[in-house]
Amino acid sequence: MKMEKRSFSMEEVVAYCNQYGFIFQGSEIYGGLANTWDYGPLGTRLKNQLKDEWRKFFIQQRENSYEVDADILMNPRVWEASGHLAGFSDPLLDCRECKTRHRADNLIQDYDTSVNADAMSEEEMMKFIRERQIPCPVCGKSNYTDIRQFNLMFETKRGVTDDRANTIYLRPENAQGEYVNYLNVMRSMRAKLPFSIGQIGKAFRNEITPKNFTFRTIEFEQMEFQTFCREGEDIELYEYFKEYGKSFFESLGLPADKLRFHDHDKLAHYAKAACDIEYLFPFGWGEINGTHNRTNFDLTRHQEYSGKSMEYYDDTAKEKFIPFIIESTYGLDRLVLALLFEGLHEEQISETDTRVVFNIKPALAPVKVNILPLIKKRHSVKAKEIQKMLSRYFMVQYDEAGSIGKRYRRGDAIGIPFAVTVDDDTLENNTVTVRDRDTMEQQRISTDDLSGTIADMLGM
Ligand code: GAP
Repeated sequence: MKMEKRSFSMEEVVAYCNQYGFIFQGSEIYGGLANTWDYGPLGTRLKNQLKDEWRKFFIQQRENSYEVDADILMNPRVWEASGHLAGFSDPLLDCRECKTRHRADNLIQDYDTSVNADAMSEEEMMKFIRERQIPCPVCGKSNYTDIRQFNLMFETKRGVTDDRANTIYLRPENAQGEYVNYLNVMRSMRAKLPFSIGQIGKAFRNEITPKNFTFRTIEFEQMEFQTFCREGEDIELYEYFKEYGKSFFESLGLPADKLRFHDHDKLAHYAKAACDIEYLFPFGWGEINGTHNRTNFDLTRHQEYSGKSMEYYDDTAKEKFIPFIIESTYGLDRLVLALLFEGLHEEQISETDTRVVFNIKPALAPVKVNILPLIKKRHSVKAKEIQKMLSRYFMVQYDEAGSIGKRYRRGDAIGIPFAVTVDDDTLENNTVTVRDRDTMEQQRISTDDLSGTIADMLGM
């Protein structure tokens, strides 16, 4: 019989994440805080493994690549220099009837998906909304205020006095943490161009229309990679990092035919060229990476605002210049979401039976081995020995509750690639059965060097 598979809907993914400990609603016991999400034990594990993979791909396997961990709170002059205080805003309007607030570009895009609202000016957006009488998504009327620009940065206060001079910001992107440390990294690592600085960390944006679960939230994690280069090398590096980013996603199990490039017409204030890598979510194509040619905009501005020279001295050519930057940024929460949509299935396994299975790449599975004593009374001591031994190398789970079939299903549902069953043969001749999550086939394997065998099977 052919095993039919069905992917999950958004509602099913949200329910699954809550049921199995991947992602919970933020501050749930207080009724939540809109569009904040807390990662549970399995979601945290998945995220951490994605960070490790990113580090391998971007820091470990690349020459002249350095990681930093800069503070989220920065001197507010950083955000003046970067242009975020003046220009990092969304075009918002209010519905005069029901008093809800909306993003003008989203109203247009949701009304007519063939229109590129990104490329429209504020006036063009207003005209489009008024001429077509686009209805308010909440009350259905079409009576809006004019568009106003609303800065996306979260403000907070430093110290005890509540005046403007004490306002600081939660960073809206990681990038500035890499830029303000460019001189430090270059000096301490004796780095020569081209070199890269990467960073994994939280960013915050006061998005008023967060939506689609963890796709657009107000607090999220970015994995950012900034490559400092000579002007002239920038165009080739920009193209290179678009492809490198796509190959990173493919290496994690996102299929090439569900990934595409989206070149931007309208550019952020810092960019000369910009392209997103998009994944085909059930709600449509959504950005999971942004790659930008930021020219020498940021470093030039930091030189201007800080008074510190940002020049690089090329001692072969005997010349000084401010490097260009190619940035490639990966949204970690969106990547987790894409992997959940890609991997979660309900699979028909017989005429009458189905199972939930998370077909994630084994090396990324939150738990690698499910250790199951066939009969609790007879096999649990040996199974616990095996658990202890394997847990030195992998995240493992021990499960003795219920029938073996039920225990396999529970493991399949959270994507455990291998189930090790301990039975009488284990006691007699030190072999276990190892069941593969995807094929459900079993093989008998010696417990001598079981960890090595499993590491090989995981491709680690
Ligand atoms: N430093 C450049 C930068 O921040 P961006 O395109 O604004 O560029 C990069 O963001 C990535 O961060 C996006 O591709 C997306 O994956 C993620 N991201 C941006 N805003 C987000 C939000 N509100 N919620 C979740 N992820 C977000």
